[in-house]
Amino acid sequence: MIQRALFSLAAASLITAAVTTQANEAVDAPVLLEQNCTSCHGSEVYTREDRRVNSLDALHGQVRMCEQNLGLTWFDDQVEGVTALLNREYYKFKP
Ligand code: HEC
Repeated sequence: MIQRALFSLAAASLITAAVTTQANEAVDAPVLLEQNCTSCHGSEVYTREDRRVNSLDALHGQVRMCEQNLGLTWFDDQVEGVTALLNREYYKFKP
């Protein structure tokens, strides 16, 4: 009986963890961008005519590079999230 209760407790927290992660990814990217990426350049570098980034891979690399230059220690999914956000809003590369 106790085992059963423990099992459902574990299952419930797993589900909660999964839901929380998903929510964070969706919400975090704009916040991450706003808090860490607007001191040197605004969105004008993403839309200027001679922008350097020409593919989704390059965008991912550039986000990683700026992030590392800043000494942030983002997880892969945070880099992915911000890359996806920039692509959706500005670059519009086909995946
Ligand atoms: C310390 C200053 C600084 C900060 C803060 C910064 N960047 Fe940059 N970023 C640069 C510079 C410099 C360039 C290159 C501009 C150029 O080539 O003229 C650049 C270029 C870029 C580009 C490429 C633009 C193009 O030409 O297509 C992207 C994308 C980018 N940054 C994303 C980010 C993200 C995401 C963050 C937050 C993690 C960030 N940057 C924070 C300095 C910064």
